[in-house]
Amino acid sequence: MKYSRRNMLQSMGALAGASILPIPVNANQTESTPEDLKDIINLFDFEKAAQGKMSKMAYEFVASGAADEFTVRWNREALDKLKIQTQVLNDVARLDTKVTLFGKEMAYPIMIAPTAFHKLMHPEGEMATARGAGAASATYVVSSFTTTPIEEIAKVATHPLWFQLYVVDDRAFVKDLVQKVEAQGCRALCITVDTPVSGVRNRQQKANFKLPDDLHPPYMIDTAFAAKGEALKFKKSLTWADIEWLKSLTKLPVLLKGILNPNDAEKAIQIGCSGIIVSNHSGRNLDTVPATIEVLPSIAQKVNKRIPVLMDGGIRRGTDVLKAMALGANAVLVGKPVCFGLACGGSEGVTKVMTILQKEFEFAMALSGRSSIAGIDASLIWQRDL
Ligand SMILES: Cc1cc2nc3c(=O)[nH]c(=O)nc-3n(C[C@H](O)[C@H](O)[C@H](O)COP(=O)(O)O)c2cc1C
Repeated sequence: MKYSRRNMLQSMGALAGASILPIPVNANQTESTPEDLKDIINLFDFEKAAQGKMSKMAYEFVASGAADEFTVRWNREALDKLKIQTQVLNDVARLDTKVTLFGKEMAYPIMIAPTAFHKLMHPEGEMATARGAGAASATYVVSSFTTTPIEEIAKVATHPLWFQLYVVDDRAFVKDLVQKVEAQGCRALCITVDTPVSGVRNRQQKANFKLPDDLHPPYMIDTAFAAKGEALKFKKSLTWADIEWLKSLTKLPVLLKGILNPNDAEKAIQIGCSGIIVSNHSGRNLDTVPATIEVLPSIAQKVNKRIPVLMDGGIRRGTDVLKAMALGANAVLVGKPVCFGLACGGSEGVTKVMTILQKEFEFAMALSGRSSIAGIDASLIWQRDL
């Protein structure tokens, strides 16, 4: 996205003096923003606002991590402690934030991570998320745990969708689902490989998390029942051989989501995966695995640009996006804030989450002296203690 000096000055004024978004992505967006979104300035505000709008059970479902939540905290702490090395007197009159992934140009390297049960957060569920994503020109990765069939989401989506796959034991079911999402126009398949079982979700247990009886995730019937307290039915025996089989079912680019080990990244390349997502599931699975931003450099180094490396976990600020890109990510995904945005304001809430992050990313690029994605490299991070 080109970014003129005039826009920059306008947005700086708005940021300093007003409580609305600096530059609406389209002119109607601010007008259509519900009153109670006006006071929300950054992604952290969404969580506070959402807490007052969601049931305790739903809030705990989104906000919590596994066990003692070390990894949840480390995701943020590790991003916060990275210091940015600026360059001055670089021409930043025009910023180019575009990236191309699998042949498709994206306005920003910021996507919506797959998250479960959107009707738990808002009555319009995934339909609102898709509309909100479209208004922000953001790619939305629909979860296997969607509470809306992919056909309905695809009808309202104005921007490409990707699909996240949880593999279950029933191969015929998995094959049907993969072919269905491809037929519905999803542009990539992200296979989640970090969840043979669900994490030790103590906070969810304490909040008696249980899917309401009227919510029926169409593709994960067994595991949805598991959310009501029964054992999960993810395919625990999932191996690299299954990934090869899954790849044979589709022409879509296949990404593995949940990579934390450089050797697994190498294996993913060797069996022909199109990309990987460095993810610790927002600290919801195995507590005390490292922050994703900490493992990203070694994985990016191993991959050495052979396939795109995406990353998620704790991205809340434009500077976080900048840091992830500097350390080797081709794009990032955002999970919890989108759920909170949805809870606060349906599709407008989702749009606002994404546009805040997009604008903050532009500020971070301009203020660090980087006008293009190619200019964001490891030199952007201070390499020694100050
Ligand atoms: C409420 C919630 C539900 C999630 N559901 C899924 C899911 O269905 N499939 C999946 O692969 N990851 C799921 N995740 C993980 C996200 O895709 C993503 O890895 C993570 O949320 C990114 O970190 P962040 O929330 O700190 O931005 C979920 C995360 C949250 C918070």
